[in-house]
Amino acid sequence: MKNRATMTPTLNFLAFLALSSVKVLANPTAALLGDLLDIVSLDVAPLITEVVTTTYPASTPTTYTTSTYDTSCQCHYSTIFWWTPHPHHSYEPHPYQRRRLPHQYGYLIQAVTLYQVDLSTGGVSVVKDHLGDDTTINAMAYNTLDNFLYARQRGNNELIRISSDGTTEVVTTFPDNNNNVNIGDIDTDGNYWYAGMDLKPGSATYGTLIDSGKVDNLGLSIADWAYLPVGGPYLYSAAHNTTAGGGTTLIRFSLETKTYGVVQRYPNIGGHTWGAMYAINNGTLYASDNTNGEIWAFPIEGGSRPYLASQGPISGQNDGARCVLNLDV
Ligand SMILES: *[C@@H]1O[C@H](CO)[C@@H](O)[C@H](O)[C@H]1NC(C)=O
Ligand SMILES: *[C@@H]1O[C@H](CO)[C@@H](O)[C@H](O)[C@H]1NC(C)=O
Repeated sequence: MKNRATMTPTLNFLAFLALSSVKVLANPTAALLGDLLDIVSLDVAPLITEVVTTTYPASTPTTYTTSTYDTSCQCHYSTIFWWTPHPHHSYEPHPYQRRRLPHQYGYLIQAVTLYQVDLSTGGVSVVKDHLGDDTTINAMAYNTLDNFLYARQRGNNELIRISSDGTTEVVTTFPDNNNNVNIGDIDTDGNYWYAGMDLKPGSATYGTLIDSGKVDNLGLSIADWAYLPVGGPYLYSAAHNTTAGGGTTLIRFSLETKTYGVVQRYPNIGGHTWGAMYAINNGTLYASDNTNGEIWAFPIEGGSRPYLASQGPISGQNDGARCVLNLDV
């Protein structure tokens, strides 16, 4: 085989490479090489892994092809490079990149302690205590765009970002001063919905309030909500209907009309505050009962019966979050 080092001088000014060898072969330029395609497939993959850590300063994707003649096999070797700028390069250079959260778990915040929750067994372990400035944290949400948790910390009314080891950083101060904010989730466009705070990394409106207002909560006690892409533009919640015999009402908040609607009533389920909610994008909303620790699964379309999924911790002053895009528990 040829010496790969003869190709590497072109690589040292290059940066991030968002490409696998499979994608190279699917590239039309590679297909044009006809009979040499097999050689390309052998040659390209090792080179790709060599350049991943180098730096590429351009802002647009670039394709680059080299071709050399090898006298021993009397054939051409072609190598196709396809570079795209690092998607996070411009806005996220800090070490938190390496501390993203494992996404198979649910996360529960209780006052200032962060727990990891296994939703299938109910098992709970402490990630860290005394987070941030050690004042109560709530309205915690998992951002699928960067795999960090976001939450409101009460002391200085701040939006904080929480990494996998429980360390925090302040993203911004909340524009309003409502000490009762206790529900929050982030949709897959990066909008943090307690009041529509934009968390899309790199966005011009990052961390600014894009909507706010008062809504009718239908007389229910709503302690958390969760966004599920499969469920459309809504935030779902299992709400405690505090009227005698009310049980639980599955509701959804429309991100378009900014109103709550009833999906289904379950008078015989629950009866306590559902304090922490976690969602799986197969249409399942998990809600944890503060009083007895039970974690129930609610199909968000109503219809089929909710069921007891596991026995979790009893808690108060809490909120839950999870990576909704992960389908395993
Ligand atoms: C709450 O429960 C009461 C009593 O069962 C019922 O009449 C009412 O419709 C329920 N409200 C909602 C929004 O589910
Ligand atoms: C959704 O996923 C969970 C976890 O894998 C599973 O337990 C549940 O049965 C699934 N629900 C549906 C409706 O597929």
